[in-house]
Amino acid sequence: MVEISTSVLSVDEEKAITTFYNLEVAGTDYFHIDVMDGKFVKKDTTKKMLKYAEYIKHISNLPLDVHLMVEDVKAYVDSFISLDPDRITFHLEAIRKKEEIIKIIKYIKENGIKVSIAIKPNTKIEEIYPYLPYINMVLIMTVEPGEGGQVLIESTINKINKIKQYINENNLETVIEADGGINPENINSLKNAGIDIAVVGTAIINSNNFKETMKKLKK
Ligand code: DX5
Ligand code: ZN
Repeated sequence: MVEISTSVLSVDEEKAITTFYNLEVAGTDYFHIDVMDGKFVKKDTTKKMLKYAEYIKHISNLPLDVHLMVEDVKAYVDSFISLDPDRITFHLEAIRKKEEIIKIIKYIKENGIKVSIAIKPNTKIEEIYPYLPYINMVLIMTVEPGEGGQVLIESTINKINKIKQYINENNLETVIEADGGINPENINSLKNAGIDIAVVGTAIINSNNFKETMKKLKK
């Protein structure tokens, strides 16, 4: 069964606490914290996402799935460590040198946090292969990072097929998460391609019944 990590990017600040509570009651498996630094992507959501992560830590035991769309990965890892997230994802495109990537993987793990690497739609899937044995999860962006509410880019589904095959052929345990534009109408094609976790934002947050939508997504 696919797990759902609900993106809190578009949650309304006034209704945040109630919304987080209702998402937990509706059965979300994770809260997906979309951290943007205004450099790696245009928007800067740093303050809001730190605040939301703190709120969630106070009212829920559900795991935080932190997605860093930032250039200075180490600095942002440091700002989230105290919130004890379950996993932290950074973008392969933010760190080019292999030894730097290995260093940050080790650093996140040393802090008892699961490590995940994300790749943008135009990044070749093969670029992530060398790191798969060392990371807990790979995040396949199914939209360009930087916004909620976009349309899923169909061609990214093939990347999921390919990496699932590679993981199986190499007896790896790396979890596959897809992120962006996912809804009850298209989630089955992602499930068939082999994802373990789906990040869903708008399709849940804008729905008038979180429980119903969650049920459709998990069916
Ligand atoms: C985009 C974020 C996604 C996005 C998901 O940069 O990484 O997590 O907020 O939201 P929807 O489901 O609205 O595409
Ligand atoms: Zn995300």
